[in-house]
Amino acid sequence: MAGSLVSVEKKGDISVVTLNNPPVNSLSFEMFSQIDQTMQQLISDASVKGIVVVGAGRNFSAGFDLSSVSKDVQPDFIATNMPKTHHMLDRMEDSPKPIVAAIAGNALGGGCELALGCHYRVADKTATLGLPEVKVGLLPGAGGTQRLPRLVGLMDGLQVIGQGKTLGAAKAHQLGLVDLLVEPGQVLEAAIQLAVEKSNQTSHPKAREKQDKLPPREMAEQMFAMARHMIESAPVKFRAPGRAVACIEAGALNGYAAGIAAEQKLFVDCYFDEEAQGLIHFFFASRSTGKIKDLEGTSPMKVGKVAVIGGGTMGRDIAFVHLLAGYPTHLLEVDQPRLDAAVATIKGHFDRRVEKNQLSPADAEKLFAQLTPTLDYPSLSDVDLVIEAVFERMDIKKDVFVKLAAACKPGCILASNTSTLPIGELARVTKDASKVIGLHFFSPARAMPLLEIIRFDATSKETIQTCLEVAKRIKKTPVLVRDCYGFLTNRIAFAYGAEANALLEEGASIEAIDQATVAFGFPMGPFTMGDMAGNDIAYHAIPGMMKAYPQRARKVSPLVEMMFKTGRHGQKAGKGFYAYDASKKAQPDPEMASMVETVRKDLGISARKDISAEEITERIVYTWVNIAADCLEDGTALSPDDVDVATVMGFGFPAWKGGAMNYARHVGFGKIVTSLDQYAAKYGKVYEPSAWLRRAAEKE
Ligand code: NAI
Repeated sequence: MAGSLVSVEKKGDISVVTLNNPPVNSLSFEMFSQIDQTMQQLISDASVKGIVVVGAGRNFSAGFDLSSVSKDVQPDFIATNMPKTHHMLDRMEDSPKPIVAAIAGNALGGGCELALGCHYRVADKTATLGLPEVKVGLLPGAGGTQRLPRLVGLMDGLQVIGQGKTLGAAKAHQLGLVDLLVEPGQVLEAAIQLAVEKSNQTSHPKAREKQDKLPPREMAEQMFAMARHMIESAPVKFRAPGRAVACIEAGALNGYAAGIAAEQKLFVDCYFDEEAQGLIHFFFASRSTGKIKDLEGTSPMKVGKVAVIGGGTMGRDIAFVHLLAGYPTHLLEVDQPRLDAAVATIKGHFDRRVEKNQLSPADAEKLFAQLTPTLDYPSLSDVDLVIEAVFERMDIKKDVFVKLAAACKPGCILASNTSTLPIGELARVTKDASKVIGLHFFSPARAMPLLEIIRFDATSKETIQTCLEVAKRIKKTPVLVRDCYGFLTNRIAFAYGAEANALLEEGASIEAIDQATVAFGFPMGPFTMGDMAGNDIAYHAIPGMMKAYPQRARKVSPLVEMMFKTGRHGQKAGKGFYAYDASKKAQPDPEMASMVETVRKDLGISARKDISAEEITERIVYTWVNIAADCLEDGTALSPDDVDVATVMGFGFPAWKGGAMNYARHVGFGKIVTSLDQYAAKYGKVYEPSAWLRRAAEKE
């Protein structure tokens, strides 16, 4: 009766339909077709009194198989199959026999929509439900935009779908998405029981016909206006959330059929949009970075306790993320006042998690109690991993590493959060270089998802594997790179800053450069970013960068030194490329504009008035691509996908363009090489296309 992706077993009068596509029971049109045939047969079989749908293994279903999404799929294929899925779910709802979803693990996307087409949903307390499609540029295309808002109410439906939220089972129960919550391991039994109880009824709740949670038209229109306003005022403009809201709106104001028609049209628009293609590429790239071929078969060490050295901007956040993940964590500072300040900030981070209902007060207290503030190295004798985050100076870091090598037990991993300095040099002052590694967090480390892991020649596989495991536990996405000055991310960042300065000297304004990059899709422009990170940091790192990469070195703009000397260090100093008021709002600064004019005059540059937004973004983005290609050529980066993840998560390259190298592939490597050659002829060898890019262009 069932196909290979679906199996059926009879439990008394109830038939249990099992989705069987390991590991997460991902869905496809073929799978929907098999479910449909199975359901039709069971509904017409007089011996069956009720139906339960369950997932094989730990998940109900994590949704549609995203690896099948491709711009090469024919639009007709989607357009013909979508209505079939919609009809299947309608038929399931129309069944006179009860259909119960038994949900454990994830019921996401299409998985959640399948559950919404059942009459009743029983969930294990640890299950997760939701419609996160907009996060990959799509929208729920199996009736989810219609059934979910009718079940949970318009406001919550708009939020869950428009923001791509996932819900814990308890919240889903509270909202009406789940009918019955049960203890883990009991979901199938409870679902069968419910099907038996409901089997003497001939009509069952149909989400698509539910009206009681839809507000009156006028109130609904206000809610849609609000949702649209939120989407339009978001710093990064995505198209999928607006399209999803349009589907909900069509259904809520004009009825289910109109909503489904909108879903069928707008899903296809999303599917073939650059946004979905880029986001789905990024989705898979970000899941691949932790899987390193040459580490296969290497077991990680057990990390029980962690220590962080230096409780400044970075150290206090790094300690916080480890505490949050349940690691007992030592924090070492140079004196009591600095230690106290760091501890107070960490406490504040926990308090905010409690305020936002992300942690219970008891859990926050328990996790915070695992913090051991200290001024003594000997107290670190039993830690398994140390992360150093002191000032960015080799002499100070070496001094710390000498002390750590003396105080820590053999086998303890010694990591540095340095932004640029070579890890190999630090390793020389330790006893066991195989245990030395770079763990480069991004600021603010409690929020930024990227962790650049830096291996040098002597770093052992076990050390790397252990750090990859820790990254997973602290919920960071790792990108493994080779040791060199600036690693992958800061090599790109410095070239980015230098290109922005070159455009500024040539005649573009600070605001025009920032606006053009934001219009391209970055959350902020290079000057806003410089002001946030601190322009003094860039100033200090420039000499090292010039020495390490002479082929990419260009004359440093005199502006850099002028800004440093006049204290234009950025937001923290109240002035940088912009002026900042007490609320840290950036304002164009006439003083800065006249400094730029002075520099142009001194350099004998008459400002070009014809620098277009296209030229700004092309020069900036192609520079990113060129330096990333250098990093691939010399082995700093392992793969273009790693570059994509690092550029999106580290510096906000638009995720919907898939990352710097995915974007380059999309534009065409050949086109980029031609442009860079032209810039090189005009401005010099700093634009010379990387050998990696030239080869990629030849292979196109
Ligand atoms: P920071 O100046 O805010 O904090 C450094 C802390 O280290 C201070 O609290 C200081 O008291 C402490 N410290 C200095 N010498 C020490 C010693 N010998 N023993 C113990 N503690 C000591 O600096 P920040 O920004 O936290 O940077 C720390 C490291 O992280 C640097 O290597 C930096 O390059 C790197 N980094 C910084 C990022 C940022 O955006 N701020 C981003 C990524 C990495």
